[in-house]
Amino acid sequence: MAEYRNIIVTGGAGFIGSNFAHWVVKNTDAHVTVLDALTYAGNRANLEGIPADRLTFVHGDICDADLVESLLAGSGMGAADAGAAGAADAPVDAIVHYAAESHNDNSIADPAPFVRTNVQGTFTLLEAAREHDVRFHHISTDEVYGDLALDDPTRFTEETPYRPSSPYSSTKASSDLLVRAWCRTYGVRATISNCSNNYGPYQHIEKFIPRQITNILCGRRPKLYGDGLNVRDWIHTEDHSRAVWEVLTKGRIGETYLIGADGERNNLEVLQAILERMGKDPEDFDWVRDRPGHDRRYAIDAGKLRRELGWSPIHTDFAEGLEATIRWYEENRSWWQAVKQVTEAKYAAQGQ
Ligand code: NAD
Ligand code: DAU
Repeated sequence: MAEYRNIIVTGGAGFIGSNFAHWVVKNTDAHVTVLDALTYAGNRANLEGIPADRLTFVHGDICDADLVESLLAGSGMGAADAGAAGAADAPVDAIVHYAAESHNDNSIADPAPFVRTNVQGTFTLLEAAREHDVRFHHISTDEVYGDLALDDPTRFTEETPYRPSSPYSSTKASSDLLVRAWCRTYGVRATISNCSNNYGPYQHIEKFIPRQITNILCGRRPKLYGDGLNVRDWIHTEDHSRAVWEVLTKGRIGETYLIGADGERNNLEVLQAILERMGKDPEDFDWVRDRPGHDRRYAIDAGKLRRELGWSPIHTDFAEGLEATIRWYEENRSWWQAVKQVTEAKYAAQGQ
């Protein structure tokens, strides 16, 4: 099993990347260097609680080739937080690449930042990993496989052909292809994981579950797209973090691993579970304009990850995970309240 001393986590002040940073610090000895541009989706507060001697925070852009190069060459800590500790001196021995523009609705309204960060940014990191022979793990999504019909008996596997639908998923698919090519042509020691929909703490309130929870908490009605029957395959973000660590340390170079926890549910079911748990009438929501090109259903077969790497999810009770997530948003109003108005104004302008 590979051991890592200093891992760069790109996008580590966003939802899933910050959960991964917390997980690594809690469960391993590795030092974490977060590289994040702190776009509207990033929040330095997501890393609070991580001891200063385990974390270096670098405020910067993954498209900045000079910055990325200097981080891998060990001279780029000039952009780091003052509180960063000495363990960051260890050479970077892996990059776990979460940074992305991640929201489908935003990609439909304005795709340009998606092409820049998701494609150009991944290219920039791959070039640096090639130059310095650094292990590279790429975080991707099940959306690269397009969607399934509700009655399709199959699920996505590592062999499913790519068929992305949205500007977001097509840029993620493009980044996956870059990783595959850099691995085969230049020998970059890379792996890819494609995960299904995450839920849990620190998720931006533009996303489905936290949007509905925070709507209810501030007296707004939840909003459901289309006919509400679109299916997502939910996984708790901590199970995602554990799976990524397994792939990083035990995965075979050049391989792709799908991550999912058999959590298929339609949006109406999820929304009504939230309403019920928050003491509301199950019909107390608004139907709103559907997302253009809206993928119908995602479903992951994580058999390869389970068989080869021995991973299995811990958070198998969705009701319990949802309850804890609702509690987190109730108890952390200051984390989201300041951006609620602007997030909802954006949706209102789109008829959503
Ligand atoms: P997020 O939007 O919450 O966080 C993205 C982070 O990337 C933010 O902190 C942002 O500041 C940072 N970032 C954006 N552009 C950057 C740039 N140019 N340079 C440096 N940092 C930049 O996203 P998330 O939901 O945490 O998703 C993280 C990754 O996981 C993405 O690659 C996404 O495609 C993938 N993924 C997400 C899910 C999900 O359900 N959310 C599922 C599967 C895969
Ligand atoms: O499948 C993995 C993907 O999951 C990740 O790659 C993406 O980064 C992540 O954002 C997520 O994409 P989705 O588009 O599935 O997630 P979102 O939370 O935006 O929406 C989930 C479902 O809920 C989707 O069918 C659209 C619907 N929806 C969403 C919002 C915000 C609503 O019905 N109402 C809403 O207000």
